[in-house]
Amino acid sequence: MTIYARLIGTGSYLPERVMTNAELETSVDTTDAWIQARTGIQQRHIAGENEFTLDLAEAASRRAIEAAGINPNTIDLIVVATTTADRVFPSTACLLQSKLDIHGPPAFDVQAVCSGFVYALDVANRFIQTGGATRALVVGAETFSRIIDWTDRNTCVLFGDGAGAVILDAAESPGIYSTHLHADGDYANLLHVPKGVSTNLVAVQEGTAFVEMQGTEVFKMAVNKLGEIVDETLAANNMQYSDIDWLVPHQANIRIIKATAKKLGMPMDKVIQTVQYHGNTSAASIPLALDAGIREGYIKPGETVLMEAFGGGFTWGSALLKV
Ligand code: ACO
Repeated sequence: MTIYARLIGTGSYLPERVMTNAELETSVDTTDAWIQARTGIQQRHIAGENEFTLDLAEAASRRAIEAAGINPNTIDLIVVATTTADRVFPSTACLLQSKLDIHGPPAFDVQAVCSGFVYALDVANRFIQTGGATRALVVGAETFSRIIDWTDRNTCVLFGDGAGAVILDAAESPGIYSTHLHADGDYANLLHVPKGVSTNLVAVQEGTAFVEMQGTEVFKMAVNKLGEIVDETLAANNMQYSDIDWLVPHQANIRIIKATAKKLGMPMDKVIQTVQYHGNTSAASIPLALDAGIREGYIKPGETVLMEAFGGGFTWGSALLKV
């Protein structure tokens, strides 16, 4: 019998503090009009001084657990996608496991930046399909504000903090139809934090390890690769564009989202768009959008959802599922 991973609950969390475009106008040479026209972003949420990735992950996880109506002790796999872990080690997943009072099952982090959630979903899906787990908590959580140079207008207008989580259960029918992952490290320098623990621990300690990005190159590559992966995903499942009910894209830039929707021939009212409210939250962006789509009653049980993401690495990936 084929085993599938089925979504049984979603949750998300955004920090209380909202930073509007108007606020950014006071600190860097930018305008609300420029940010909205080039990215679609209106505001982002910023974690409080004593609020960390783990806190965001925990809040989103508790909401997903509640939505699924399960006892946390029945979770037998935890995968957290993050680029902004609280500690070098242990993993955010292990810290989250302790917070949730779960003991024993495997817990680990996945690092694929903005594609992180799709990567984590892929891993959890494979665990479930092969009988290695029966109920997984998959989280995307980031405090990207901590690796942003708030004097660099090229990057600071784009990103925000947040978390999203899903519970996956083993089931006899889909569920997740397929996941598709790619990476090409030759493009590492187009979007990166060039300092790390091994190369420049002082910068990490002093908080000057910041995101650097060649925005236009990233934009072109994202549109190109997301177009390709949409085709790859549908071909793998013998599906047509018209079989997709909802597109839940990585929320980076409304223009990238529109380019992929256009390729799919999907009207924008079939695309979950939350980038305007929280900016690019990296690994948290897809589960944040998915949770909003489900809780606000757009995405309904039985509908087919295509998720796609592109980010640093470069990495890119997709997941096709029935909710
Ligand atoms: N406010 C005002 N002007 C700005 C700002 C700003 N915040 N940032 C850049 N500019 C200026 C530039 O300096 C440039 O000025 P110049 O012509 O005098 O040199 C001008 O605006 C145009 O800049 P471009 O880079 O050509 O603008 P573009 O249309 O490419 O938009 C953007 C820039 C929004 C960064 C876009 O390239 C983009 O979204 N790229 C993808 C980046 C991204 O999403 N990265 C996240 C990770 S990957 C992912 O998630 C997909």
